[in-house]
Amino acid sequence: MVQLSSSTPLPLPAGGRLRGSVRVPGDKSISHRALLFGAIAGGETRIEGLLPAEDPLSTAACLRAMGVEVSPIAAGQLVRVQGVGLDGLQEPGEVLECGNSGTTMRLMLGLLAGRQGRHFVLNGDGSLRGRPMRRVGDPLTAMGASIHGRSGGNFAPLAVLGRPLQGSTLHTPVASAQVKSAILLAALTARGDTTVIEPAQSRDHSERMLRAFGADLEVGGEARTCVTVRPGASLTGQHVVVPGDISSAAFWLVAAAVIPGAELTVENVGLNPSRTGILDVLEQMGARLEVLQRRTVAGEPVGDLRVSHGPLQAFDIGGDLVPRLVDEIPVLAVAACCAEGISRIRDAAELRVKETDRLAVMTRQLGAMGARIEAFDDGLAITGGVPLHGAELDSETDHRVAMSLAVASRLASGDSLLHRPEAAAVSYPGFWDDLQRLST
Ligand code: S3P
Repeated sequence: MVQLSSSTPLPLPAGGRLRGSVRVPGDKSISHRALLFGAIAGGETRIEGLLPAEDPLSTAACLRAMGVEVSPIAAGQLVRVQGVGLDGLQEPGEVLECGNSGTTMRLMLGLLAGRQGRHFVLNGDGSLRGRPMRRVGDPLTAMGASIHGRSGGNFAPLAVLGRPLQGSTLHTPVASAQVKSAILLAALTARGDTTVIEPAQSRDHSERMLRAFGADLEVGGEARTCVTVRPGASLTGQHVVVPGDISSAAFWLVAAAVIPGAELTVENVGLNPSRTGILDVLEQMGARLEVLQRRTVAGEPVGDLRVSHGPLQAFDIGGDLVPRLVDEIPVLAVAACCAEGISRIRDAAELRVKETDRLAVMTRQLGAMGARIEAFDDGLAITGGVPLHGAELDSETDHRVAMSLAVASRLASGDSLLHRPEAAAVSYPGFWDDLQRLST
C-alpha cells in the first residue's frame, strides 16, 4: 500500500507503461443520493458498491447526527440505511460537518429547509466555506426557507431554521445538479408542485433514483431540462447498486490514451448520458476507445471501457457539453498537452468555484511542468505537443487535481514530486495503490 502523509510529498516517477484492468470505486453522486434518499424513505435501503471515500462519509455522518442509522461504510461492504420517513429527521445537537463535500452541503440544505421548527447548522472545511451557497439558498428562500450565513447567506457556516415550504417554478441560472437536487428534495415536503428549469441538463441521478424510491416526478422539456415534483407520495427503501464513477475512470481513460504503450480496461463504469461527455471528447480526439458489455444496473447504464494509446487531435469543449464532463476538465487539460493542435475549453466558469479554482490551479501546476496553457474567465487554451518536464507539484488540496497531475507526471521528461497527494481520498481512496498496481 502507498503510505501517504500530508507533510511528505509523493514521488511521481516519469515514464513507465500502464497495463491491466481496474475497477474504480462507486459513483460519488449516486452514493450521496442513495444515503440521503434512503434516510427519508420508509424501511431499509441497502446500498451495494457505495463509495467508501471522505465525501460520502460526510453525508453519512450528518445523517447519523440526525438519528438515522447507517451501518459502517467500508470497501466491499453492503451499507444499510434505516429510513426515518419524510418527516423523521431529528434536530441535531451538533454542527453538521460537511467536510470538503459541496454535494453534502447543498443537498442537505434542500433536505432540511422544510423540517418545520428544527434548527440546523452546517459547516465545512476551508475550501467548502469559500464556495457559493446562495445558488441553493436563493431558490429555497423563494420557497419559504430560512437560511442564514456569512456574506448574505453565501458562505458557511450556515444556519437553517426549518419552515413550511411552498411549491414554486424556479429557473436556475447555471446547470447544476446540486442546485436542482436541493430543490427537488425541498419539493418533497412543500405545499403544491415544484418545477425546476435548468439552462442545460445536468446529471439526472436524483430524478432516476427519486422515481425508483416512489416519488411523483416528471422530466420534460426538449433537452430534459425541466423537472416537476408533486409532493405527497411516500418513499420506500430500495436496493441500490452503485456503478463505478466515470469521473474516477476518467484518470485511467486519459492515462491510457496519452501514455505510450498503455492499454487499460476500466470495468463497471456508470455510463449515464448526462455524465459521458468525456467519452465524446476522447472520440473527438481520435482516441482508441471501446465500450464493452453495455448493460443496465438498477436504472443506470453501465459498461466496461477499454482504451489504448494512439495519436490524439486537439479538442473544443463548450455549451451544453460542459455539464456532462464538468469534473473531467482537469484531466482533459492533461490530455490536451499531448494532442496535436490547440485545445479550447469555454463556458466553464463553474470550475472556478469547485473544490479549488480549477482553471487557475491546473494552469499553475501544468505551467510548472512547462505546458503552454492559458486561463480565461471561463476556460482554457492549451497548445499540445509542448514537452513536459518533471516539477515540484501541489494538489492545492483538490482531489481531482492530485489525480490529474499523477497522469501528467508520467508524460514528463523527469521525475516529479506531488505535495498533498492525500487529497485523492475525497473521491478515490485507493487511487495511488491502483496506480502502482497498473504500472509495469
Ligand atoms: C455533483 C454535481 C456537480 C459536480 C459535483 C457532484 C452532484 O456539481 O461537479 O462533483 O453530485 O450533484 P454542480 O452541481 O455544482 O455542477
